Amino acid sequence: MGSDHHASTSPSNQTNQSTRTLFITTLLLVTCNAVSAAALRNPYIKARAHGPVKKKLDRPVVILVSSDGFRFGYQFKTPTPNIHRLINQGTEAETGLIPVFPTYTFPNHYSIVTGLYPASHGIINNRFVEPRTGDQFSPARHEPKWWLGEPLWETVANQGLKAAAYFWAGSEVRKGSWDCPKGYCMKYNSSVPFEERVDTVLSYFDLPSDEIPAFAALYFEDPDSHGHVVGPDDVAITKAVARIDSMIGRLIDGLEKRGVFEDVTVILLGDHGMVGTCEDKVIFLDDLAPWVEIPADWVHSYFPLLAIWPPAGHNLTEIVQRMNQGLDSGKVEKGKSLRVYLKEELPARLHYAASDRIPPIIGMVDEGFTVAQRRTEGARYCGGAHGYDNEYFSMRSIFIGHGPRFARGRKVPSFENVQIYNVITSILNIKGAPNNGSKSFPQSILLPAQ
Ligand SMILES: *[C@@H]1O[C@H](CO)[C@@H](O)[C@H](O)[C@H]1NC(C)=O
Ligand SMILES: *[C@@H]1O[C@H](CO)[C@@H](O)[C@H](O)[C@H]1NC(C)=O
Ligand SMILES: *[C@@H]1O[C@H](CO)[C@@H](O)[C@H](O)[C@H]1NC(C)=O
Repeated sequence: MGSDHHASTSPSNQTNQSTRTLFITTLLLVTCNAVSAAALRNPYIKARAHGPVKKKLDRPVVILVSSDGFRFGYQFKTPTPNIHRLINQGTEAETGLIPVFPTYTFPNHYSIVTGLYPASHGIINNRFVEPRTGDQFSPARHEPKWWLGEPLWETVANQGLKAAAYFWAGSEVRKGSWDCPKGYCMKYNSSVPFEERVDTVLSYFDLPSDEIPAFAALYFEDPDSHGHVVGPDDVAITKAVARIDSMIGRLIDGLEKRGVFEDVTVILLGDHGMVGTCEDKVIFLDDLAPWVEIPADWVHSYFPLLAIWPPAGHNLTEIVQRMNQGLDSGKVEKGKSLRVYLKEELPARLHYAASDRIPPIIGMVDEGFTVAQRRTEGARYCGGAHGYDNEYFSMRSIFIGHGPRFARGRKVPSFENVQIYNVITSILNIKGAPNNGSKSFPQSILLPAQ
């Protein structure tokens, strides 16, 4: 999604606001202390203050939190006490969550909520062209024709339950019984402070129990938005990670205050990792001209996914052969770090062929490499990127599950994010749509239902 710019509050405003927050917090603390001290002395007061003791939640609830570009390992960059509380008291993919290929934001977020590979859910890149109509997809397109498959909020709504999404790829698309209801489905705006997002999700737990969403998605743009600019090892990333940790703390605190933290399932994950792209790791397509010309208007994306769509009538096999001849010749700078395929000949584990939206020629670059058309100023891009082969460890993100169905302190092996759809429908005890996760996966990481 877009980069976030939410530093617009003026300093004086901030001071006023924090003074007010401090005042309210103090008031709350005083009130809570008074109530609990009284309750300790006399158990009937508790019953009187809160009504008869009643289980707060009538059914399982899952909050799915995504921190964009949270590379596996970032949780060790800086103290992350809240994330570690979830890890220590929950179940963690010990060596991270494996994204789908291409390891971009939109394809991955939509795989997480549909359980489908991009070729099946249709969001094959952050931007692409529909070949029959020439219509262009971008993250702002919300017509259902782009978004195939059945995302979790639709599955939940189809079964008569409430769902909510505070920003998620595809959540504003009306499909099935999901009509992106007011108050439960937010229009994307990267300026909305993270605190407001968390507090809105928390406020659902103040509603009557049949209005509490069974499933709520919550999205943060960071640390991805910093990672692209500075690469994975900058101090800005450390700060972004600390900020995400504090948002997790805010969520946990809010759930605890409402007495539901142990009953609600919180899943914290990310869509992909990040790798540095500096050090001159760039391949120029114009360097291939002695073998084959690749005009810029054939190129749908340069890196990390090189996607080429020549006009009808060109011999695709021949283009691929000539490109690879040039790259292997030893005469093209860094040529050995790019390999070009007809999409049908990509390694099958990438599942990146079975959609007519996927351009016919796909290039795979080595980790951290970039591709540009020609040697011009600025063609060498120094920062961070993702989109590479999902086999690279640097592309992995995190998976942590905390709640009644996740064992405490358990570590499980890494798995692909298409498994998550079935995990969530299992926890919610609802019937899911057909997808690419395995039916038996949920029982391998979940405790049996009570
Ligand atoms: C986006 O959110 C910011 C911060 O809450 C707000 O000031 C702004 O008006 C919003 N923009 C739109 C288009 O709603
Ligand atoms: C395309 O090129 C390949 C490799 O040069 C060749 O074997 C094949 O016959 C060509 N196909 C057509 C339809 O010309
Ligand atoms: C993924 O699941 C869809 C829907 O069931 C199916 O059509 C598709 O063939 C599956 N893809 C793979 C690679 O198994």
